[in-house]
Amino acid sequence: MSELMKNIDESRLPSHVAVIMDGNGRWAKNLGKPRVFGHKNGVQSVRETTEAAAEIGIDYLTLYAFSTENWRRPRLEVNALMTLLVETLRKEIKTLNKNDIKLNAIGDLSYLPKKTHDSLLQGIENTSNNKRMTLTLALNYSSRWELTHAMKEISEDIASSRISPADIDEAMINNKLSTSGMPDPELLIRTSGELRISNFLLWQIAYSELYFTDKYWPEFTKDEFCKAIIDYQKRERRFGKTSEQLKT
Ligand code: FPP
Repeated sequence: MSELMKNIDESRLPSHVAVIMDGNGRWAKNLGKPRVFGHKNGVQSVRETTEAAAEIGIDYLTLYAFSTENWRRPRLEVNALMTLLVETLRKEIKTLNKNDIKLNAIGDLSYLPKKTHDSLLQGIENTSNNKRMTLTLALNYSSRWELTHAMKEISEDIASSRISPADIDEAMINNKLSTSGMPDPELLIRTSGELRISNFLLWQIAYSELYFTDKYWPEFTKDEFCKAIIDYQKRERRFGKTSEQLKT
């Protein structure tokens, strides 16, 4: 256990941490290397973050790996990312099982290349009995896609008279999202100095604490993850109440 990890208060852990992994391309460019070099090194940060989250005792870790907008990148980069995902899944499933981590995915997975889709489903299937932590990869995900999908499903339920508009409440909407069954993230981390949410979990982060770091994703280590948790633990989460109300 690292020195920083010892400073984490186990009684006040976030249950769900979501991460926007950003800056692979810029990190590589600064070293005079191609963008794909950045993605390859980003895999090590995925590993470190997953390990750190499991060791600390986080229940859910959700990583934004590929957005619906990322298809606009050069075809070679998209292909390299998809291949990297297949390779990583193939290599890491054993480690996930050893560490009792369940793999999950959110997003419009049907659009992924067949190989990526197959290895993802295989990974999800092979780790489905694990209990320690759920690692969710957001792939071909965007919040607006997710909310549109949810609205369509609810409209269909109304059209077929299964529900009436008056039945719609927050719980019903939660159930129609791809994160159904998970708690909302208490903490959202974004790397690389960008101060944006980029269409990620917009409904779910209504009350999340936001943590931004200048580190590029390939520089994000276990210690950086610990720093984010420690920073989160210093904050007071009020959910619209006053500080005084929280003390009573
Ligand atoms: C952001 O950097 C990173 C991505 C869009 C992809 C993240 C993918 C990985 C870390 C590799 C594989 C993932 C898994 C889950 C095994 P960027 O390219 O947007 O960087 P930039 O903003 O500097 O261009």
